[in-house]
Amino acid sequence: MKNKFQKIRAEFLEKLKTVSDVGGLRELELQYLSRKGELSSLMHELKDLSVDMKKELGALANNIKNELETTFNEVKDQLDKLSVKNALVDITVPGVEPVHGHLNPITIIQREMEDIFSSLGFTIFDGPELESDYFNFTALNIPPFHPARDMQDTFYVDSKNQDGDLDLVMRTHTSPVQIRAMRKLGAPLKVVVPGRCFRNEATDARHEHTFYQFEGLVVGENINFANLKSLLELVGKKLFGPNTKLRMRPKFYPFVEPGNNGEYTCFLCNGQGCRVCKNTGWLEIVGGGLVHPDVLRAGGLDPEKYSGLAFGFGLTRLAMLKYGVTDVRLFNSGDLKFLEQF
Ligand code: PHE
Repeated sequence: MKNKFQKIRAEFLEKLKTVSDVGGLRELELQYLSRKGELSSLMHELKDLSVDMKKELGALANNIKNELETTFNEVKDQLDKLSVKNALVDITVPGVEPVHGHLNPITIIQREMEDIFSSLGFTIFDGPELESDYFNFTALNIPPFHPARDMQDTFYVDSKNQDGDLDLVMRTHTSPVQIRAMRKLGAPLKVVVPGRCFRNEATDARHEHTFYQFEGLVVGENINFANLKSLLELVGKKLFGPNTKLRMRPKFYPFVEPGNNGEYTCFLCNGQGCRVCKNTGWLEIVGGGLVHPDVLRAGGLDPEKYSGLAFGFGLTRLAMLKYGVTDVRLFNSGDLKFLEQF
């Protein structure tokens, strides 16, 4: 029995050396020192011994018990102190600032435009980037084989519609959403459509196969050219400042009649002529016009009753002008040195 006590002592002390956390300590306590632990159980057996043996072994058992408890408590104290020390935080040390992402400049401009038009009561509307040939061209008064298709070459996706036509294209502009909006919302309506567009272009500093537009459509009774002009004037002032002027020049787009090109006085030189406006004093930014009757019809509306105005801003171009970006390809380049400047 003496040996058994010695054995428990040796085992306990050995294990105690390897304990490194409070959990391990608790296990040891349960196994050896608790009321049902090995030491107590063995001490319990003392009662069957002779008086002399009880005396001798009882003393030994008590010594061992005291020794083990004392060492146990010492180790426990040390571990407690260590965990308190580890948990201490020096609140005077400056924190590690998390790395924030930020918005792409095109998104910044898009949100600015959305704010302007929301404040004027426009709804923000969305449409698919992979569009049917019908919505992208035909419904916008650009039938197959019409030369106007040459203005906007795109990527044709190799899949067929029910009639076996190759019908899916990457949309070349946000204008197909005009048709979708009219069909979905009916008249009267006021929507803007920000979105990504695609064209089959040889890319250079001013051309990119992927770019962003910002479309607008207003349909109602008696919508006229003066409405278009005053709206674009107002937006120009909000975008570039109160002295901004608008100039409209005729331009052909099959889906508007009359159609025009909208130019604002250059915000950098106030119309004097500079590098940004190529010395013309004007910046070409928005195409627009009055919605063609065929387009209203394709949208399910009666052109005898309703008329509309439509416009399309080059959002990518706006971002280039606003931030003085000289190469359009930078926007989608993933080049952090460029992107982190905004
Ligand atoms: N969709 C035309 C373009 O891509 C812009 C436009 C929109 C013109 C609406 C007139 C009306 O260039």
